[in-house]
Amino acid sequence: MVTTSADNNNEATTQTTSNPKYDRQIELKAFDETKAGVKGLVDSGITEIPRIFHRPNDHHYEDSSQVSSTTASVPVIDLQGVVNGDKAKREEIIKRVGEASESWGFFQIINHGIPDRVLEEIKDGVRGFYEQDVEVKKEYYTRDISKPFVYNSNFDLYVSPCVNWRDSFMSSVAPDPPSPQDLPPVCRDILFEYSKQMMKLGIVLLELLSEALGLDPNHLSSIGCAEGLYILGHYYPPCPQPELTMGTTKHSDNDFITLLLQDHIGGLQILNHNKWIDVPPLPGALVINIGDILQLISNDRFKSVEHRVLASKKGPRISVASFFSTRILQTSKIFGPIKELLSENNPPKYRETTLTEYNMFFFNKGLDGTKALDHFKL
Ligand code: OGA
Ligand code: NI
Repeated sequence: MVTTSADNNNEATTQTTSNPKYDRQIELKAFDETKAGVKGLVDSGITEIPRIFHRPNDHHYEDSSQVSSTTASVPVIDLQGVVNGDKAKREEIIKRVGEASESWGFFQIINHGIPDRVLEEIKDGVRGFYEQDVEVKKEYYTRDISKPFVYNSNFDLYVSPCVNWRDSFMSSVAPDPPSPQDLPPVCRDILFEYSKQMMKLGIVLLELLSEALGLDPNHLSSIGCAEGLYILGHYYPPCPQPELTMGTTKHSDNDFITLLLQDHIGGLQILNHNKWIDVPPLPGALVINIGDILQLISNDRFKSVEHRVLASKKGPRISVASFFSTRILQTSKIFGPIKELLSENNPPKYRETTLTEYNMFFFNKGLDGTKALDHFKL
């Protein structure tokens, strides 16, 4: 069994209010024990959000609330040429992927080859999981992150100062796929189909990213970037007081790359030059972002950019994030800045680490507004 430090009753988390009678740990535990998540609160008809969800306004991590007024936006890249094998188009796409990964850390892709039907079905499958009979859903509620299917609300509930207005599930699908009976029947088949599609597309993206770094197309896959894949299904219920909380606190992703499918609601923002910029929903598109480990192995050439999701009165909002990483699985692989990218003028900026070490650090820290990557800097 692997759990994160649930009993970490640190000072910072108990002093977010001036009311001395407020025992945050007790309220967190009571919420956790309902096993019904944020959706359970909304279903009970609340009109005010419980105070554990209030985001502390005296803290550095959520005060950069300025929203950018620039018209610049996250690049949208058409992958048509890659799928058709057009050489000149492929070169152009590699250039755009490289530029986007260096300056934005994010881009959206269209014509990626995944049928609309699959995108619709996975969103329906995720929604179906959360909207099924709560007694059935509760069976999957756990904080043991080594289980094949982990449903809970806020993986970092007991360690982070901010509780988010979101329920999530996680399932590792590679290298060891779950047994069908470990997955909820309501989304089982589509989870398998979607994972297969994500693995295929992820390998194509890793080829483009390898070439953008000036490496052989299969370099990133060959060192293990496509070895592990896990899928997160997020559910953001409508929130009666969205200005008091967050859907997802500011963070960067703890993987190589993330392929995100968001529905039509919106609310995803990225931090660009200290201003928040919307990543608008684009029908049929996927949002791709560079994770911390790719920033580390590219020695800061590609950027793992911080992002967040606003809470909203609209909802539920559904998103499905595919994370390329073996997460906490014990492997012998060690990752550090790629030797071919280093020179006298570009010495390594990070120490070597394993994905297990990186992820245990990340999970135990939670989404507290700080970057895990800084901990691995030389
Ligand atoms: C994530 C994430 C964004 C979203 O899962 O890391 O940033 O839109 N998700 O749900
Ligand atoms: Ni993220």
